[in-house]
Amino acid sequence: MADVAILVNRVYAGAEQGLWRAGAERTSADEICRLTLAGEIAVARLEGRLVACVRVQHLDDMTGEFGMLAADPDHRGIGIGRELVHFAEQGCKNYGLAVMQLEVLFPREWSHPSKEFLATWYSRIGYRKVRTGAIDESYPHLAPLLATPCDFVVYNKGLR
Ligand SMILES: CC(C)(COP(=O)(O)OP(=O)(O)OC[C@H]1O[C@@H](n2cnc3c(N)ncnc32)[C@H](O)[C@@H]1OP(=O)(O)O)[C@@H](O)C(=O)NCCC(=O)NCCS
Repeated sequence: MADVAILVNRVYAGAEQGLWRAGAERTSADEICRLTLAGEIAVARLEGRLVACVRVQHLDDMTGEFGMLAADPDHRGIGIGRELVHFAEQGCKNYGLAVMQLEVLFPREWSHPSKEFLATWYSRIGYRKVRTGAIDESYPHLAPLLATPCDFVVYNKGLR
């Protein structure tokens, strides 16, 4: 569990640089342990080495959501991220869910290169922006940890 938490925190520290105050971490070994026991964590390995992970959950009878998608920077651009998204989609589709959803955090007043990459990448793999929410309204406990005003954008894709 600790290696998954370390990967997620390392990847997000780069991908969300400037968004969070010093000391804020995306996850912890305890949280990964709880999510793994709930069956929500999938990982990708290359020759036994952990290189990527994703969290998949069922939000309701219709909707799945994935998050905590993180690929090791040394193994990017070779399709691991796309395969993990595909794995998440297939699992939810096989379970009978109709829609896959995800949320991306964007700084409100400036452009973050990782987030711009994600917006293009998710659109290329079939996701459409459905709404924007203010983080202080939906996740008030996270708002004090932000270093800059942020919004989250919800994307979804039909699975049928
Ligand atoms: C999003 C993320 C998981 C994608 O992982 P990945 O394994 O690199 O993804 P893929 O290889 O499947 O796709 C990357 C695409 O960018 C292209 N690419 C080209 N050069 C690249 C490079 N140096 N690095 C990354 N991608 C590159 C790939 O060719 C690929 O294009 P395609 O979709 O047309 O095939 C990864 O960038 C990441 O961990 N980002 C930081 C965390 C994050 O933002 N997570 C999402 C939060 S919502």
